[in-house]
Amino acid sequence: MDSLKDKVVVITGAAGGIGSEAAKLFSKSGSKLFLTDLDQGRLNSLIEECKKSGAKEVHGVRADSGVMSDLENISKKTIECYGKVDVLVNNVGFAKKVPYEEHTEADYNSTLDVNLKAAFFLTKWMIPELIKTRGTIVNLSSAAATNPEPRFMAYSVAKAGIDHFTRSLAREYAPQGIRVNAIGPGPVRTAFHPDHAALEKISAEQPLCGILEPAMIARWILFLSSQEAGPITGQVIVVDGGRTVTRIPVGYGPVK
Ligand SMILES: NC(=O)c1ccc[n+]([C@@H]2O[C@H](COP(=O)([O-])OP(=O)(O)OC[C@H]3O[C@@H](n4cnc5c(N)ncnc54)[C@H](O)[C@@H]3O)[C@@H](O)[C@H]2O)c1
Repeated sequence: MDSLKDKVVVITGAAGGIGSEAAKLFSKSGSKLFLTDLDQGRLNSLIEECKKSGAKEVHGVRADSGVMSDLENISKKTIECYGKVDVLVNNVGFAKKVPYEEHTEADYNSTLDVNLKAAFFLTKWMIPELIKTRGTIVNLSSAAATNPEPRFMAYSVAKAGIDHFTRSLAREYAPQGIRVNAIGPGPVRTAFHPDHAALEKISAEQPLCGILEPAMIARWILFLSSQEAGPITGQVIVVDGGRTVTRIPVGYGPVK
């Protein structure tokens, strides 16, 4: 997409399935990237791949998105490298599958910290820079935010928070020209779903697309970041092959 050329794009959780596809697509669009992840090895490989895909410039830093000082460092380093930010993709996330009554306080805290608090505070530190560029923010939510799944309680609550964070930010910063949107994927073929046989089974139930691939989600990240999406803000785009509209639960079976 031409409008993404020379734009500075920050992606968290970049070394995972969806983040890495997005990073490669932004590279092909001529964007300049700042990538972060917990996994230094996969982050380094991705940086090399992005260079090969044509990225104008790529930098990255290992960061634990559950640690506030690491989040602040992402913001600081991005400005040190590029002097500006145009697009922030709050992509990092993980889920622990556990029945509600077995959630520990530690499960709750780590899930809310990485899926919600990280986006809340990284965005807070980047907002002054995004105001200068009239930038855009894309948050990764989940279809589970509105279509609750048994055994993913803390995760679903965090993603519901992301949906409302998206709307609230869009409302507050539209006067400064910042657009904020989210994508709510259904089950996508990434390491997020380690059981691929189960993923095939649940994907076969949805009416469209079969297994959702990370590139299908990445294309929406790029679209929402681009000028072409100019009139869109405060929206959560659910990309799930029709799963939620036809009310199919993800199908991990009964709670017990
Ligand atoms: N795959 C799906 O089915 C699916 C469905 C709905 C929503 N999502 C959301 O999409 C986003 C991307 O998911 P994905 O499928 O690419 O997952 P993934 O597991 O492939 O990638 C997640 C990445 O985040 C990194 N990460 C995890 N914890 C971290 C932390 N504390 N600090 C820094 N990095 C950390 C991991 O190292 C990994 O590279 C997440 O927000 C996820 O909740 C995924």
